[in-house]
Amino acid sequence: MVGAGEPGGGLVGLNQPPAIRFESVSFAYPDGRQVFDGLDLTVPAGASLAIVGANGAGKTTLVKLLARLYEPTSGRILVDGVDVRELDLASWRQQLAVIFQDFVRYELGTTENVGFGCVSRMDDSDALRSAARRAGSLAVIEELPRGWDTVLARGYTGGADLSGGEWQRVALARALFAVDGGAGILALDEPTANLDVRAEAELFEHLLQVVSPGAGEPDRRPVTTLLISHRFSTVRRADRICVLDAGRVVEEGTHDELVRAAGLYARMFSLQASRFDG
Ligand SMILES: Nc1ncnc2c1ncn2[C@@H]1O[C@H](COP(=O)(O)OP(=O)(O)OP(=O)(O)O)[C@@H](O)[C@H]1O
Ligand SMILES: [Mg+2]
Repeated sequence: MVGAGEPGGGLVGLNQPPAIRFESVSFAYPDGRQVFDGLDLTVPAGASLAIVGANGAGKTTLVKLLARLYEPTSGRILVDGVDVRELDLASWRQQLAVIFQDFVRYELGTTENVGFGCVSRMDDSDALRSAARRAGSLAVIEELPRGWDTVLARGYTGGADLSGGEWQRVALARALFAVDGGAGILALDEPTANLDVRAEAELFEHLLQVVSPGAGEPDRRPVTTLLISHRFSTVRRADRICVLDAGRVVEEGTHDELVRAAGLYARMFSLQASRFDG
């Protein structure tokens, strides 16, 4: 939810990244469209799980259920063993740094567009700059006509619009700012769809640094990461990958395991690889 969050959140025991478990989750949208039917899925604490599947397989819906924008028709979503329905909604959303596919572009200043990731730290300009730097948006922001005070929309004095890829990096900075502020879960729904392949590779390197603390940045905490992407160059870097099809997880493993299994993942991967070769 890229919401406000004090370090540590507000949920007991979530100073460490939590484990997430979807347990026999079924879900139909209010119009009757059945998306999941007995979905089982686990993300170990601090691990990254990539989710792949065809358009309409339910990847975005899965994150919406996690964020409690909808409730499962049956089954449960557990966070460190606790049903998310039992958690206080506001504190739960502080634990989630989410960028949805149709992420929000606030017609407000750059400070707000990044700072809304953790409202209570929004006046910490060093922290804002750090998140923007790791998302690859710092240079763009600081070259705007009014820097961090630039309204990100045309039609305002000194306002400016950004390209799709630049907006995406601003949204990523917002999510990283939420993680810095204490969110233990990072969910990225096609975070790099507007970036070219090289930019995406660079950005994902940065992301990995965020979620696995490096020697130089001991205060970076690991987070539990859900990553949705159609790009296998990104997907393959996740600790584990699961393939959604017809409302269920049909394959799960590391990239190498799934390629060896010669199933749906392997077919999708070789299709994309051959497209890039050609
Ligand atoms: N608000 C909604 N009401 C009804 N049906 C919906 C709604 N949102 C999504 N759906 C349907 O639910 C199914 C899963 O959609 P979802 O957006 O989760 O797929 P996805 O895997 O994220 O696809 P994509 O790769 O295109 O992003 C689709 O059939 C979609 O048409
Ligand atoms: Mg989607």
